[in-house]
Amino acid sequence: MNLDFSQIVPYIPFMLEGVWVTLQFVIIAIIFGFILGSLISLVKISRFTLLKWLADFYTSIFRGTPLILQLLLIYYAVPQLTGYDISPFLSAILTFGLNSSAYVSEIIRAGIQAVDKGQREAAEALGIPYRPMMIKIILPQAMKNILPALMNEFITLTKESALVSVISYLDLMRRAQVVSSDIYRSFEPLIFVGLLYYAMVMVLTLIGKYVERRMRASD
Ligand code: ARG
Repeated sequence: MNLDFSQIVPYIPFMLEGVWVTLQFVIIAIIFGFILGSLISLVKISRFTLLKWLADFYTSIFRGTPLILQLLLIYYAVPQLTGYDISPFLSAILTFGLNSSAYVSEIIRAGIQAVDKGQREAAEALGIPYRPMMIKIILPQAMKNILPALMNEFITLTKESALVSVISYLDLMRRAQVVSSDIYRSFEPLIFVGLLYYAMVMVLTLIGKYVERRMRASD
């Protein structure tokens, strides 16, 4: 066995900085994906057949092709089509946001449709209009299905963010590779950034648990 963690010590600040670099675009992509995904889910539960078909098509494209392909397409094809370069940062936000919105739209749609239809029938029988019924009756119950799945999606996105290392974005993953080639050792930097990814996911998990507990308390 040949391990020497002392060699990565000078690189620790460089790798820690990668956490922030990664978080920057992950947070923006999560927010973007959530907003877009919510809008798409509204279309999916609406009565507009054509729009619904478009929303399903959108989802099937983003779920049906590899994320890395989408990332490379946006990064390399946009300049080819438009003549304008797109920064790795912007490509990352766009790709991860668009991709995540497809998953989020399904999570929210399924969560809403899983609420027992008796709830809706009862509201309608009482003459409650659509909006207050949705906001006061259906959505609070749907949240219980939506929240854990949404947390899962954010965790997936955080880990998949490591893919941006292929478009030369100096994120956490890429930094491990840079350090490896500097010190001719892979194990130590990889384990180190692995721990950092794990810590990020643990923080997300704890936030999710906290929110779930709060919701159960308000039952
Ligand atoms: N590795 C999968 C892919 O390449 C991950 C897709 C992203 N998943 C997600 N829930 N946003 O397609």
